Amino acid sequence: MEKREEIYKGKAKSVYRTDDPDLFIMHYRNDTSAFDGTKVEQLADKGRVNNLFNAFIMQKLAAAGIKSHFVKVVNDNDSLVRKLQMIPVECVVRNLAAGSICKRYGIAEGTEINPPTFEFFLKSDALHDPMINDYHIVSFGWATPAQIVAMKELTFKVNAVLKQLFADAGMLLVDYKLEFGLSQGEVLLGDEFSPDGCRIWDKVTRKKMDKDRFRQDLGSVIEAYKEVGERLGVDFSRLPD
Ligand code: TMP
Ligand code: ASP
Repeated sequence: MEKREEIYKGKAKSVYRTDDPDLFIMHYRNDTSAFDGTKVEQLADKGRVNNLFNAFIMQKLAAAGIKSHFVKVVNDNDSLVRKLQMIPVECVVRNLAAGSICKRYGIAEGTEINPPTFEFFLKSDALHDPMINDYHIVSFGWATPAQIVAMKELTFKVNAVLKQLFADAGMLLVDYKLEFGLSQGEVLLGDEFSPDGCRIWDKVTRKKMDKDRFRQDLGSVIEAYKEVGERLGVDFSRLPD
Protein backbone atom coordinates (compact mmCIF):
# COMPACT_ATOMS: atom_id res chain seq x y z
CA MET A 1 0.00 0.00 0.00
CA GLU A 2 1.59 3.23 -1.21
CA LYS A 3 1.62 6.05 1.39
CA ARG A 4 0.86 9.36 -0.33
CA GLU A 5 0.43 12.93 0.94
CA GLU A 6 -0.58 13.91 4.47
CA ILE A 7 -4.19 15.09 4.43
CA TYR A 8 -4.78 15.73 8.13
CA LYS A 9 -2.49 16.48 11.05
CA GLY A 10 -3.97 16.10 14.52
CA LYS A 11 -2.22 16.65 17.83
CA ALA A 12 -0.83 13.12 18.07
CA LYS A 13 -1.57 11.44 14.73
CA SER A 14 -1.46 12.26 11.04
CA VAL A 15 -3.59 10.79 8.27
CA TYR A 16 -2.17 10.01 4.83
CA ARG A 17 -3.88 9.20 1.59
CA THR A 18 -2.99 5.89 -0.07
CA ASP A 19 -3.36 4.68 -3.65
CA ASP A 20 -6.74 3.24 -2.61
CA PRO A 21 -9.36 6.03 -2.23
CA ASP A 22 -11.18 4.06 0.48
CA LEU A 23 -8.12 3.47 2.68
CA PHE A 24 -5.98 5.88 4.69
CA ILE A 25 -2.81 5.40 6.70
CA MET A 26 -2.97 6.61 10.27
CA HIS A 27 0.48 7.58 11.52
CA TYR A 28 1.05 7.67 15.29
CA ARG A 29 3.58 10.36 16.26
CA ASN A 30 5.45 10.74 19.56
CA ASP A 31 3.76 14.11 20.15
CA THR A 32 1.83 14.09 23.40
CA SER A 33 -0.59 16.88 24.08
CA ALA A 34 -2.91 17.94 26.87
CA PHE A 35 -5.14 20.84 27.81
CA ASP A 36 -6.31 21.44 24.24
CA GLY A 37 -2.82 21.34 22.83
CA THR A 38 -1.34 23.91 25.22
CA LYS A 39 1.03 21.35 26.77
CA VAL A 40 2.94 19.38 24.12
CA GLU A 41 6.00 17.14 24.43
CA GLN A 42 7.59 14.35 22.44
CA LEU A 43 7.72 11.13 24.43
CA ALA A 44 10.08 8.52 23.00
CA ASP A 45 8.33 5.41 21.64
CA LYS A 46 4.81 6.75 22.28
CA GLY A 47 3.71 6.52 18.64
CA ARG A 48 4.73 2.90 18.32
CA VAL A 49 3.28 1.92 21.71
CA ASN A 50 -0.10 3.54 20.95
CA ASN A 51 -0.21 2.07 17.44
CA LEU A 52 0.28 -1.46 18.77
CA PHE A 53 -1.98 -0.86 21.79
CA ASN A 54 -4.77 0.43 19.55
CA ALA A 55 -4.45 -2.52 17.17
CA PHE A 56 -4.82 -4.95 20.07
CA ILE A 57 -7.95 -3.18 21.39
CA MET A 58 -9.56 -2.80 17.95
CA GLN A 59 -9.09 -6.52 17.34
CA LYS A 60 -10.73 -7.33 20.70
CA LEU A 61 -13.63 -5.03 19.82
CA ALA A 62 -13.98 -6.56 16.35
CA ALA A 63 -14.12 -10.01 17.95
CA ALA A 64 -17.02 -8.71 20.08
CA GLY A 65 -18.83 -7.49 16.96
CA ILE A 66 -17.91 -3.79 17.23
CA LYS A 67 -16.81 -2.52 13.82
CA SER A 68 -14.12 0.14 13.49
CA HIS A 69 -12.07 1.76 10.74
CA PHE A 70 -9.00 -0.30 11.74
CA VAL A 71 -7.74 -2.68 9.05
CA LYS A 72 -4.19 -3.70 10.02
CA VAL A 73 -0.84 -2.54 11.35
CA VAL A 74 1.60 -1.83 8.51
CA ASN A 75 4.70 -0.86 10.49
CA ASP A 76 5.77 0.39 13.95
CA ASN A 77 3.97 3.72 13.71
CA ASP A 78 1.42 3.20 10.91
CA SER A 79 -1.90 1.42 10.61
CA LEU A 80 -4.15 1.05 7.60
CA VAL A 81 -7.70 2.31 8.23
CA ARG A 82 -10.90 2.68 6.27
CA LYS A 83 -11.76 6.20 5.21
CA LEU A 84 -14.44 7.70 7.45
CA GLN A 85 -16.38 10.92 7.31
CA MET A 86 -15.81 11.91 10.94
CA ILE A 87 -18.63 13.06 13.22
CA PRO A 88 -17.18 16.05 15.13
CA VAL A 89 -18.25 14.94 18.60
CA GLU A 90 -16.46 13.04 21.36
CA CYS A 91 -18.33 10.32 23.25
CA VAL A 92 -17.23 9.84 26.87
CA VAL A 93 -18.32 7.09 29.24
CA ARG A 94 -17.36 7.25 32.92
CA ASN A 95 -17.32 4.35 35.34
CA LEU A 96 -15.50 6.24 38.12
CA ALA A 97 -15.27 9.99 38.66
CA ALA A 98 -12.07 11.68 37.49
CA GLY A 99 -11.08 14.76 35.51
CA SER A 100 -13.66 17.27 34.37
CA ILE A 101 -16.69 15.65 36.02
CA CYS A 102 -15.08 16.11 39.46
CA LYS A 103 -14.60 19.84 38.88
CA ARG A 104 -17.95 20.36 37.16
CA TYR A 105 -20.17 18.70 39.76
CA GLY A 106 -17.95 18.63 42.87
CA ILE A 107 -17.66 14.83 42.83
CA ALA A 108 -14.73 13.25 44.72
CA GLU A 109 -12.18 11.53 42.45
CA GLY A 110 -12.70 7.78 42.49
CA THR A 111 -16.44 7.87 43.28
CA GLU A 112 -18.19 4.99 41.50
CA ILE A 113 -20.64 6.19 38.85
CA ASN A 114 -23.55 3.76 38.78
CA PRO A 115 -24.90 3.39 36.20
CA PRO A 116 -21.94 4.60 34.12
CA THR A 117 -22.66 8.01 32.65
CA PHE A 118 -22.38 9.24 29.07
CA GLU A 119 -21.38 12.70 27.84
CA PHE A 120 -20.99 14.36 24.45
CA PHE A 121 -18.33 17.01 23.81
CA LEU A 122 -17.83 19.10 20.69
CA LYS A 123 -14.44 18.35 19.14
CA SER A 124 -12.97 21.86 19.08
CA ASP A 125 -9.70 22.87 20.75
CA ALA A 126 -10.49 26.53 20.03
CA LEU A 127 -13.68 26.21 22.12
CA HIS A 128 -12.04 23.86 24.69
CA ASP A 129 -14.23 20.89 23.74
CA PRO A 130 -17.47 22.17 25.34
CA MET A 131 -20.02 19.68 26.61
CA ILE A 132 -23.03 19.45 24.27
CA ASN A 133 -26.31 17.53 24.28
CA ASP A 134 -28.27 15.51 21.74
CA TYR A 135 -30.39 18.53 20.77
CA HIS A 136 -27.31 20.60 19.87
CA ILE A 137 -25.97 17.74 17.76
CA VAL A 138 -29.18 17.48 15.72
CA SER A 139 -29.93 21.22 15.49
CA PHE A 140 -26.45 22.09 14.29
CA GLY A 141 -26.29 19.12 11.93
CA TRP A 142 -23.32 17.33 13.53
CA ALA A 143 -25.20 13.99 13.45
CA THR A 144 -28.72 12.62 12.99
CA PRO A 145 -30.90 11.17 15.78
CA ALA A 146 -30.22 7.67 14.42
CA GLN A 147 -26.47 8.28 14.42
CA ILE A 148 -26.70 9.53 18.03
CA VAL A 149 -28.45 6.30 19.01
CA ALA A 150 -25.74 4.27 17.24
CA MET A 151 -22.88 6.21 18.90
CA LYS A 152 -24.37 5.72 22.38
CA GLU A 153 -25.05 2.02 21.81
CA LEU A 154 -21.57 1.38 20.46
CA THR A 155 -19.87 3.40 23.21
CA PHE A 156 -21.66 1.41 25.94
CA LYS A 157 -20.94 -1.86 24.12
CA VAL A 158 -17.24 -0.91 24.16
CA ASN A 159 -17.60 -0.35 27.91
CA ALA A 160 -18.97 -3.84 28.49
CA VAL A 161 -16.09 -5.42 26.54
CA LEU A 162 -13.22 -3.27 27.81
CA LYS A 163 -14.25 -2.92 31.46
CA GLN A 164 -14.08 -6.72 31.71
CA LEU A 165 -10.82 -6.93 29.73
CA PHE A 166 -9.11 -4.41 32.04
CA ALA A 167 -10.63 -5.95 35.19
CA ASP A 168 -9.30 -9.38 34.21
CA ALA A 169 -5.82 -7.82 34.05
CA GLY A 170 -6.13 -6.11 37.46
CA MET A 171 -7.05 -2.66 36.20
CA LEU A 172 -9.99 -0.26 36.37
CA LEU A 173 -11.26 1.43 33.22
CA VAL A 174 -12.16 4.78 34.80
CA ASP A 175 -13.35 6.61 31.68
CA TYR A 176 -12.64 6.92 27.96
CA LYS A 177 -13.36 8.97 24.88
CA LEU A 178 -14.40 7.56 21.50
CA GLU A 179 -14.92 9.18 18.12
CA PHE A 180 -17.08 7.83 15.31
CA GLY A 181 -17.37 8.35 11.60
CA LEU A 182 -19.48 7.29 8.66
CA SER A 183 -18.59 4.73 6.03
CA GLN A 184 -21.27 4.21 3.39
CA GLY A 185 -23.86 5.48 5.86
CA GLU A 186 -22.77 3.14 8.66
CA VAL A 187 -21.48 4.48 12.00
CA LEU A 188 -18.04 2.97 12.66
CA LEU A 189 -15.61 3.51 15.52
CA GLY A 190 -12.77 5.76 14.36
CA ASP A 191 -9.73 7.49 15.85
CA GLU A 192 -7.92 5.31 18.41
CA PHE A 193 -8.22 3.62 21.77
CA SER A 194 -5.04 4.02 23.78
CA PRO A 195 -3.99 5.35 27.20
CA ASP A 196 -3.96 8.81 25.58
CA GLY A 197 -7.76 8.90 25.49
CA CYS A 198 -8.83 7.00 28.59
CA ARG A 199 -8.09 6.70 32.28
CA ILE A 200 -6.82 3.43 33.69
CA TRP A 201 -5.96 2.76 37.32
CA ASP A 202 -4.40 -0.24 39.00
CA LYS A 203 -7.28 -2.06 40.71
CA VAL A 204 -5.50 -2.43 44.06
CA THR A 205 -3.25 0.63 44.39
CA ARG A 206 -5.28 2.93 42.09
CA LYS A 207 -1.98 4.02 40.52
CA LYS A 208 -2.71 6.18 37.43
CA MET A 209 -1.48 4.44 34.26
CA ASP A 210 -2.76 6.79 31.50
CA LYS A 211 -2.24 10.29 30.13
CA ASP A 212 -2.97 11.81 33.54
CA ARG A 213 0.68 10.88 34.25
CA PHE A 214 1.61 13.43 31.56
CA ARG A 215 -1.09 15.99 32.48
CA GLN A 216 -0.11 15.88 36.17
CA ASP A 217 3.68 15.51 35.65
CA LEU A 218 3.76 12.14 37.42
CA GLY A 219 6.58 10.77 35.22
CA SER A 220 7.09 7.32 33.63
CA VAL A 221 4.32 7.98 31.12
CA ILE A 222 5.23 5.52 28.36
CA GLU A 223 6.46 2.94 30.88
CA ALA A 224 2.92 3.01 32.33
CA TYR A 225 1.28 2.75 28.86
CA LYS A 226 3.46 -0.30 28.13
CA GLU A 227 2.66 -1.86 31.47
CA VAL A 228 -1.07 -1.52 30.76
CA GLY A 229 -0.61 -3.11 27.34
CA GLU A 230 1.58 -5.93 28.61
CA ARG A 231 -0.88 -6.77 31.37
CA LEU A 232 -3.60 -7.03 28.69
CA GLY A 233 -1.38 -9.23 26.52
CA VAL A 234 0.03 -6.80 23.94
CA ASP A 235 3.41 -7.98 22.60
CA PHE A 236 5.40 -4.78 22.05
CA SER A 237 8.43 -6.69 20.75
CA ARG A 238 6.89 -7.47 17.36
CA LEU A 239 4.23 -6.35 14.92
CA PRO A 240 0.93 -8.28 15.08
CA ASP A 241 0.24 -10.85 12.33
P1 TMP B 1 -12.34 14.74 30.92
O1 TMP B 1 -12.37 14.23 32.33
O2 TMP B 1 -11.23 15.72 30.65
O3 TMP B 1 -13.69 15.26 30.47
O4 TMP B 1 -12.02 13.50 29.97
C1 TMP B 1 -12.76 12.30 30.04
C2 TMP B 1 -12.02 11.21 29.29
O5 TMP B 1 -12.02 11.48 27.91
C3 TMP B 1 -10.55 11.08 29.69
O6 TMP B 1 -10.20 9.71 29.63
C4 TMP B 1 -9.81 11.84 28.62
C5 TMP B 1 -10.71 11.68 27.43
N1 TMP B 1 -10.69 12.86 26.56
C6 TMP B 1 -9.79 12.93 25.51
O7 TMP B 1 -9.01 11.99 25.29
N2 TMP B 1 -9.80 14.02 24.71
C7 TMP B 1 -10.64 15.04 24.90
O8 TMP B 1 -10.59 16.01 24.14
C8 TMP B 1 -11.60 14.96 25.99
C9 TMP B 1 -12.58 16.09 26.25
C10 TMP B 1 -11.57 13.87 26.79
N1 ASP C 1 -6.27 15.37 23.89
C1 ASP C 1 -6.62 16.71 24.33
C2 ASP C 1 -5.44 17.66 24.22
O1 ASP C 1 -4.42 17.31 23.74
C3 ASP C 1 -7.22 16.73 25.70
C4 ASP C 1 -6.39 16.05 26.76
O2 ASP C 1 -6.08 14.89 26.62
O3 ASP C 1 -6.08 16.69 27.77
O4 ASP C 1 -5.51 18.79 24.58
